Amino acid sequence: MTPRISKRGEKVMFSPIRKYMPLMDEAEKRGVHVYRLNTGDPDILPPPAFHKGIKAHAKGNLKYAPSTGIPEHVEAWIEYYKKLGVSLEPKNIIPTVGCAEAILFAMQAAADPGDEIIVFEPVYVSYKSFSVMTGIKLVPVLLDLEKNFALPPVSEIEKKITKKTRAIVVVNPDNPTGKLWSEKELSSIVGLAKKHGLFIIADETYREIRFSGKPHTLLSEKSASEHVIVTDSASKRFSLPGARVGAVVSLNDSVMQAVLKFAQARLSVGTLEQKALIPLLREAHTLTVSLKKEYLKRRDAVYAALSAIPGVKCSKPEGAFYIYARLPVESAEEFVKFLIKDFNYKGETVAVSPMADFYITPGLGKNEIRIAYVLSVPKLKRAMEILACALAAYNNR
Ligand SMILES: Cc1ncc(COP(=O)(O)O)c(C=O)c1O
Repeated sequence: MTPRISKRGEKVMFSPIRKYMPLMDEAEKRGVHVYRLNTGDPDILPPPAFHKGIKAHAKGNLKYAPSTGIPEHVEAWIEYYKKLGVSLEPKNIIPTVGCAEAILFAMQAAADPGDEIIVFEPVYVSYKSFSVMTGIKLVPVLLDLEKNFALPPVSEIEKKITKKTRAIVVVNPDNPTGKLWSEKELSSIVGLAKKHGLFIIADETYREIRFSGKPHTLLSEKSASEHVIVTDSASKRFSLPGARVGAVVSLNDSVMQAVLKFAQARLSVGTLEQKALIPLLREAHTLTVSLKKEYLKRRDAVYAALSAIPGVKCSKPEGAFYIYARLPVESAEEFVKFLIKDFNYKGETVAVSPMADFYITPGLGKNEIRIAYVLSVPKLKRAMEILACALAAYNNR
């Protein structure tokens, strides 16, 4: 008899960000250059201290690191958080394999199979896959482009809270919308969490990439210290997504005990990467200044070019490095396939992510795309020209 895979294995989706990679590779084999604006994988080089650190530590045995993290690495995170105004002890931080694993740990520390977690949709797609993997149900609250993704009235969110609700996820700055949550919005969410005894999973992957105000962590909300579980990442602020280092950070001891047990089950995070990151974490607040300026230039270039394309609607991102756009097409999925398989303008095309899979509610996002502005300004301008030509060609077929 042929063995059968699990229902969750069947149900979990292919990432809308990654599923067209093979088509992109084929296009490049045909000689078509693809501007890859689908993944959050920037062309920016990491601070040189990282490679230096890897070289310096690449000798001798490569032992497992402790599940609690290499002590000097954890100390560097503590120093980093101190500059954000938050005092932590080593027990409050556990390094993870990127923020992706931190999210998986945080969800499982907060909720059991059958429990519910509230998310704002469109939502970063890994949350959806993790929900299928863990059996935790995601309950969506819609953020509307027409309202500039403002937090809906608290009474609307409260309608979604049931006996099974365990947490609310806030991604700040947000992927895919580029939204920056205001102080007022954050305090409404904190109020809800306190009133209903919920955790807040605060995904602060893009903390420093914000175009106004100072980097912020919800951990500084002292009255909510039992509620907040921050999921953090070295991927974006140091342009190091391949290093695969993140962290779960919480002042709630029970949460950290649970996360430690999960961390022990998967042993540890890469030893070399943890060591090489130490000087970067110590200097994060200066290293990220030029990064933010570069993304601001990119944001302005993409926003200006996209807004000028007839029929395209988009909002101006306030942080992270994504822009979300509504296109004058029926199916963004079909348009993206057309872009990669059938279209080229002078030997070039563009890859973006269709948005339908970023929603929990079926039927939403059909004519929407997400663009990751991860290339230089001249390349982005060129990519937007190609996108405009492709839209005209697609609608005149
Ligand atoms: C909102 C958000 N959370 C988590 C992640 C995962 O980050 P990491 O590379 O640290 O696993 C990403 C990656 O794009 C993201 O956008």
